[in-house]
Amino acid sequence: TYVIAEPCIDVLDRSCLEECPADCIYEGARALYIHPDECVDCGACEPVCPVEAIYYEDDVPEEWAAFTDDNVRFFTDRLLGAVTALGSPGGAAKLGAVGADTPLVAGHPSRG
Ligand code: F3S
Ligand code: F3S
Repeated sequence: TYVIAEPCIDVLDRSCLEECPADCIYEGARALYIHPDECVDCGACEPVCPVEAIYYEDDVPEEWAAFTDDNVRFFTDRLLGAVTALGSPGGAAKLGAVGADTPLVAGHPSRG
């Protein structure tokens, strides 16, 4: 799978959404997250991100290694205020922005 790392936080350029054929890039509140099971590894999203936030899972820079598991957690953990975890929604467009983030992203200092 591919992973969205720290540079996306508070930027949310969303160019990646338009490229993804699997509609598997989901919007939180301060960042976007790639669904590890729905991503088909096409790689189309990676070059279009203007802040280079997207990496193949084996190529995530060491300083952002935590984001690999964190993209998974967005779907497997109950996010703030949610009754259930997202699981596999099967499409980001129909779900829309979730409005919540993982603790890692929510606790990240604002880029203000
Ligand atoms: Fe974020 Fe880059 Fe997509 S900033 S929303 S990963 S194009
Ligand atoms: Fe979509 Fe990027 Fe995966 S374009 S299918 S999230 S590699």
